Amino acid sequence: MKDLQSYKVKLKEPISANILGCKLLVMPPPSGGPPMTLMLNILAQYAIPSGVSGPLGLHREIEALKHVFAVRMNFGDPDFVHVSTVLSDMLSPKFAKELKKQIFDNMTFDPSHLVAGKLLHWYNK
Ligand SMILES: *[C@@H]1O[C@H](CO)[C@@H](O)[C@H](O)[C@H]1NC(C)=O
Repeated sequence: MKDLQSYKVKLKEPISANILGCKLLVMPPPSGGPPMTLMLNILAQYAIPSGVSGPLGLHREIEALKHVFAVRMNFGDPDFVHVSTVLSDMLSPKFAKELKKQIFDNMTFDPSHLVAGKLLHWYNK
């Protein structure tokens, strides 16, 4: 009861992204808004809707999600962890381009291919 009585709502500004000409407003960290923005920025690079339809489209969505969830491992509540780098990556169309390059239409990869492995060059630049 004491916890609830001293509970205060934190008001935060939404995060805005422009994807395919649409203005997207998402909840800030620690919500799933920024990972969703990254997902959409990856998929927006394919032909819409044909490139994300059918079995190949599903494959691309699954591969993109694998990358997004790998990136999300570095994400958290900004009241407890530093998220500014991973947040700016998640919102960066350029970063989404790097991730899309890691998605192959003819094959899938094991987890070592995800951020921790192949994208080290991005983090080391
Ligand atoms: C998939 O295509 C890439 C080139 O785009 C090639 O390097 C790779 O060997 C191919 N994988 C398979 C399983 O054919």
